[in-house]
Amino acid sequence: MKILFLTHSFNSLAQRLFIELTRRDHEVSIEFDINDAVTHQAVELFQPDLIIAPFLKRAIPETIWRQYTCLILHPGIIGDRGPSALDWAIMHNQQEWGVTVLQANADMDAGDIWATENFPMRFARKSSLYRHEVVEAATHAMLTAVTRFQSATFQPMPLDYARSDVHGRLHAPIRQIDRCIDWQHDNTQLILRKIHAADGFPGVLDTLFGESYYLFDACMEEHLSGHPGTLIAKRNHAVCRATVDGALWIGHLKHKQDTQSTFKLAATLALQDHLAEVPEIPDDPFCKQSGMTYRDIWFEEKNEVGYLHFDFYNGAMDTAQCERLRDIYLTITRSAVRVIVLMGGVDFWSNGIHLNHIEQAASPADESWRNINAMNDLAQAIITTDRQLTVAALQGNAGAGGVFLSLAADYIYARDSVILNPHYKSMGNLYGSEYWTYLLPRRVSKSHVQSLIQNRLPIDATDARNLGLIDECFAVNSEEFANKIRQTAESLAKRPDFSALLQQKTHQRELDERLKPLQSYRDEELRQMQLNFYGFDPSYHVARYHFVHKIPHSWTPRYLAKHRRL
Ligand code: COA
Repeated sequence: MKILFLTHSFNSLAQRLFIELTRRDHEVSIEFDINDAVTHQAVELFQPDLIIAPFLKRAIPETIWRQYTCLILHPGIIGDRGPSALDWAIMHNQQEWGVTVLQANADMDAGDIWATENFPMRFARKSSLYRHEVVEAATHAMLTAVTRFQSATFQPMPLDYARSDVHGRLHAPIRQIDRCIDWQHDNTQLILRKIHAADGFPGVLDTLFGESYYLFDACMEEHLSGHPGTLIAKRNHAVCRATVDGALWIGHLKHKQDTQSTFKLAATLALQDHLAEVPEIPDDPFCKQSGMTYRDIWFEEKNEVGYLHFDFYNGAMDTAQCERLRDIYLTITRSAVRVIVLMGGVDFWSNGIHLNHIEQAASPADESWRNINAMNDLAQAIITTDRQLTVAALQGNAGAGGVFLSLAADYIYARDSVILNPHYKSMGNLYGSEYWTYLLPRRVSKSHVQSLIQNRLPIDATDARNLGLIDECFAVNSEEFANKIRQTAESLAKRPDFSALLQQKTHQRELDERLKPLQSYRDEELRQMQLNFYGFDPSYHVARYHFVHKIPHSWTPRYLAKHRRL
């Protein structure tokens, strides 16, 4: 079928559906929801059999839903209506939630039901629930709905609140007053719930040092305490704030300013002028923590395998994070472990250099340069590891430099549900570095190098495995994946031919080095990056500004809008 996606952006859910439907031989074209005239034009040009709205913020024009079947993905259980579905589900501490595929009609979220899928709720950030549970359930529900649509016999179910299996209801849009934190009364659990329910967007509006900030990226602290509402500690990116019954960490803030556009920053960066008196309470990444606390890098060791976790918010890695991670990595290489597993974070493995912190820097060009060099130093440390075998374990998605960083490892495994964006071009024609010109051709054919880099499309773990980009993918569930990774890494460490494998790897590295030194790949890539950062063409700086400030799309790029290529 010809399927048109009408979507606010090509987000992780839209990407996953695009891949799954394309794999099932549907021809999918994408149009961003810009205005009604553009939507009409897209429908006119593509003449779709079906319209799907994976992530929409406005209603579909009546003239379109009357003529075409339009399936809307609503992140709520049957009967749930309103634009804050997941936010309310978290605020109300629902134990089970779901997604529903509805047919667009005159009443928002009240159309006939084509499919639905429920899932158990985790106590987690909204953005994390969306990227895992919602995307997974939505994919199943939408594929079911598409099959039902194709059958031409299925009758969707009208929404009927009298039915015993309809538990959802209409909710008003959630407001900041509903999210508001009372630091003198709310306990830690409630505050965490409020910040989790607003994570990603829009954050919880609060006051710090007399200024308004949106709070994001919160986690529990089990040892520290102080006067409720005061900042009692800082560590790397986060600040620790006391509550009535303990404390919690806040990793990211967005300054609310009426006169200018702002964006999320690490809390310690956003508040840097106010934190001189706040004590730095460091964390030892090699030490097992007795209770919950904030740590973005930590290491665990078992049965001669070392697991290096780097759970950076949104997968963005700034200069200091890359440097810290490299130092810790190098310490591990000097230890007795035989295998190092690079675990990344649960939501993202890595999305490359930190575009927000670059945007905030006095000289974004200089900071881009520092950040990419720090990424390269880390990649180089992994590539040249000669005492251990290395594994990249992708629990979450990876994009741009983050994907190429994973290729620095000897073995790459991903969760089945992982989506990769192995390209840089959409960021203002960025050339990219991280030794991709060495690492990518090592794994995939010449023509696939070209198509991956040029097409700018996402691929899933299965496609990545089939191309040779990664070695294997398995398990959707995070515990299953962690177990399988542990088994794989431990059997690697125990292999009778471990020394031979290590020797083979170092020998191959020497051969590669003789053929063309790593430094030459780096120099060539950085020459192009220098043009991106300092040259006459400002595309990268413009694209980064648009990305960081979340400027709404004014058109859909041709590589997504097939119907506009003709
Ligand atoms: N730096 C800073 N923030 C980043 C980031 C980066 N490199 N990559 C992603 N993010 C942030 C996004 O701004 C978004 O922030 P939010 O919490 O305010 O919503 C969040 O991470 C999730 O990203 P989003 O774009 O919504 O996720 P997605 O699944 O739709 O798309 C990518 C994933 C990787 C395709 C997309 O995020 C992207 O293009 N990132 C930039 C990658 C890049 O060019 N890196 C620099 C070159 S190495």
